[in-house]
Amino acid sequence: MKPVQILNFAAVLVFGVLVGHHCSRAPAHKFIDAPVGSVAVPTTTQTSHSIDALRRGAALTTEPESLPLARVENADIRRARNYPMQPPTIPHAIDGYQVDQHANRCMLCHGQTNSAQFQAPPVSVTHYMDRDSQVLAEISPRRYFCVQCHVVQTDAAPLVANTYTGADDILTPTPATGE
Ligand code: HEC
Ligand code: HEC
Repeated sequence: MKPVQILNFAAVLVFGVLVGHHCSRAPAHKFIDAPVGSVAVPTTTQTSHSIDALRRGAALTTEPESLPLARVENADIRRARNYPMQPPTIPHAIDGYQVDQHANRCMLCHGQTNSAQFQAPPVSVTHYMDRDSQVLAEISPRRYFCVQCHVVQTDAAPLVANTYTGADDILTPTPATGE
C-alpha cells in the first residue's frame, strides 16, 4: 500500500468506529415514564415510537396491573357528523347484538318496519343499494355488517394527539387578524 492509501484506510476505519459507537448508544424506543398502574395519557410531544400503552413503561420482568376496560358511551344522544357521508357513530351500547348470516339485530330497530316503534332512525336508502345503485327490497349485502362503518365510542383517553378539523370548521371563515 502507498502511504496515501494507508491514510485513507485509517480515516475510513476511524469514521466507521465513531458511527458504530454512536448508533449502538441510540435507544431504539423511548418509553413513557409513567408509574405502573397509571393511565397512559400521551402528551403532544411524544412521537409514534414512544407510545407504550400496554406496558406503560413497566420493566419486562414485572407484570403491570391491567387498566380497567374503557366504558362504552350509552347516552342515546345522536352525535353531530363531521362531513357529509360520514357514517354516524353509534350512540348506544351494542353488547350481545347478533349480526351474522342468521340474524341482524340492528335491523330489528333500524329497518323500515320497526323503526317507528323503537324510535330509531331508519337506515338511509344507500343501505338498500347494490353497487350499481339499484335499490333493493332488503338491506344490501355491502351494508349488512353495520360495524364495518359504524362504531361505538368509549370514554378512553386518546392514545395519540389529534388535530382533526371537521368540514364545517374548515369552511367557516376565520376572523381577520388585523395584520
Ligand atoms: C333496540 C333497538 C336498537 C337496536 C337493536 C340497535 N339500535 Fe341503533 N339506535 C336505536 C335508537 C333508538 C337510536 C337513536 C338514538 C338513541 O336513542 O340511542 C339509535 C341510533 C343509532 C345510530 C345513530 C344514527 C344517527 O343518525 O346518528 C347508529 C349509527 C346506530 N344506532 C347503529 C346501530 C347498530 C350498528 C346496531 C347493531 C349493532 C344498532 N344500532 C342496534 C335503537 C337500536
Ligand atoms: C359500508 C359502510 C356502511 C355500512 C356497512 C352500514 N352503514 Fe349505515 N351509514 C353509512 C354512511 C356513509 C351513512 C351516512 C350517509 C348515508 O346515509 O348513506 C350511514 C347512515 C346510517 C344511519 C343514519 C341514517 C340517516 O338517515 O340519518 C343509520 C341509522 C345507519 N347508517 C345504520 C346502519 C345499520 C343498522 C347498518 C347495518 C345493517 C349500517 N348502517 C351499515 C355507512 C354504512
